[in-house]
Amino acid sequence: MRNIYVVGSVNTDLVIKAPYMPVSGETLTGEGFFTAHGGKGANQAVAAARLGGNVIMCACVGDDTFGKSAIEGFKADGIDTQYVRVVKNMPSGTAMIIVVDGDNRIILDKGANGCLTEQDIDQALENAQEGDIYLTQLENPIEIIGYGLKKAKEKGMYVILNPAPANKEIKPYLGYCDLITPNETEVDSLGGREMLLEKVGTLLVTLGGDGFEILTREGGQKYPCISIKPVDTTAAGDTFCGGLVTMLAEGKTLEEAAKFGSKAASIACTRQGAQPSIPTRKEVERYEG
Ligand code: RIB
Repeated sequence: MRNIYVVGSVNTDLVIKAPYMPVSGETLTGEGFFTAHGGKGANQAVAAARLGGNVIMCACVGDDTFGKSAIEGFKADGIDTQYVRVVKNMPSGTAMIIVVDGDNRIILDKGANGCLTEQDIDQALENAQEGDIYLTQLENPIEIIGYGLKKAKEKGMYVILNPAPANKEIKPYLGYCDLITPNETEVDSLGGREMLLEKVGTLLVTLGGDGFEILTREGGQKYPCISIKPVDTTAAGDTFCGGLVTMLAEGKTLEEAAKFGSKAASIACTRQGAQPSIPTRKEVERYEG
């Protein structure tokens, strides 16, 4: 099995449910406050590990209780944390999440995620092998993410970008990717399907409750997902990516890997929170939805 290197963000999510989105100047009473381990990079690493992958995480956290707790969480999921750097005098990344009717709105403070450097990536990839999988997102400085994509490509790794949250500045680096996994908003913000296919050979577009679509220059095909009643969609896309890379690392085809990721993501939507919602491999294999 190939190793999976995840370079990305680590956040603590502060979550509250609300009956609707408050308007400017309004104080609204919500309910059910909780904190959870989150961050797109961390969620994807945890999903890959829980679903059976051998995961090495490269990230930055602050020297605070949130950072310590995130590292403990990674260890509990069997993730290699030697390249998770603790940054002095910096808060860890934080996300304020408002959940309305099972859907979420997120405000981020990057904190230590903004401190990731080229050197962090160089060190993490020192022992990476040709064919290993590289997975990253856009919650760290874009030029560092771009550097990582280039470096991973030079090493002959299979390079996957989940271009979330949407950020046009990543466009110059897309040519280093073997596969990107945008949702429809991210596709639009990056110039549309045709433009993306000129730069990246394969697109895997997630379509929320409508499943996903695999597109190459030869054509595309849509696949449905399991029908569920969503409780909280936070980290659904991250769980999809984690399942996808785990199956690719095991040598499965892109279609098989994406179907597995989609099933894991559907299960995650039936539970609250980011990392608490991510299922294990057994749960996915036994799920009959
Ligand atoms: O993708 C979900 C994640 O986005 C949350 O866990 C939050 O931390 C934000 O990074």
